[in-house]
Amino acid sequence: MRKFALSLTLAATEPVSTMSGQKIDGKSVSNAVKERVKSQVQQRLDRGRRAPGLAVVLVGSDPASEVYVGHKRKACDYIGIHSEAHLLSSDTTEEELLTLIDELNQKSEIDGILVQLPLPEHIDSDKVIERIDPAKDVDGFHPYNFGRLAQRRPVLRPCTPYGVMELLKASHVEVEGKDAVIVGASNIVGRPMALELLLARATVTVCHSRTRDLAEKVKQADIVVAGVGIPNFVKGSWIKPGAVVIDVGINRLANGKLCGDVEFEAAAENAAHITPVPGGVGPMTVAMLMQNTLEACEQREQEIAP
Ligand code: GUN
Repeated sequence: MRKFALSLTLAATEPVSTMSGQKIDGKSVSNAVKERVKSQVQQRLDRGRRAPGLAVVLVGSDPASEVYVGHKRKACDYIGIHSEAHLLSSDTTEEELLTLIDELNQKSEIDGILVQLPLPEHIDSDKVIERIDPAKDVDGFHPYNFGRLAQRRPVLRPCTPYGVMELLKASHVEVEGKDAVIVGASNIVGRPMALELLLARATVTVCHSRTRDLAEKVKQADIVVAGVGIPNFVKGSWIKPGAVVIDVGINRLANGKLCGDVEFEAAAENAAHITPVPGGVGPMTVAMLMQNTLEACEQREQEIAP
């Protein structure tokens, strides 16, 4: 009886929320990663070593890309990574971009090269990615780094899927033996995500635009990762009770608000853990880029040292 009276009081004062899933706080996990990298950079400086260096290349003026590049530069400043931005006009030729990559490959104080995607249509992104020295490929998109991940011998790992694995670890989600369903098969998210989850010994299904019975597949999943770039594409009713939901989508709605690829409120009713948008996977991508830049720096130093 007393318990009933208490819940009535709460119902009168608390905002109504049906959410049962625990929100995964990407901001706080990414801050922890950045603090760890910052202190490792400081230790390098204390040993008389140079700061790691990152070159960020942006072609054109896509507003979302400009925002992401801004976040990356700000994180470098905070951590103590030397950063240089190459902001090129949208009519930059493929040849000019390749020449810049060649220069950055040769520059000893640059450990990481990031070419923000998407590139304008007249530039072949595969060609550009392949021109980056794999030792400086902090995005992990070069076929060498992708292949190493596929062979279970990762070197530089794609930042977003790597960040998702960090979020799962921080949330104490057991991956081994679980059924993971990835919605979206892009080179940046879906495919490397499949390789990461396979490396962690999940059973992985990758769904894409030709997949039949998508809802049925998602309904079987212990872990769902959505990366399709379509607002609210994954329905809350598809989420199995107790599943873990990772939303990689960042979509801007007509009203200016950001939203993910998953129907958040409805999915949160079923999920055990779920990432919000914003504040979930997004900040992790930047944090893992910082970690990759430090790793590339230390790795290159070992190779250069006698
Ligand atoms: N565009 C969207 N995500 C990414 C990313 O992780 N790296 C790069 N270079 N471009 C992107």
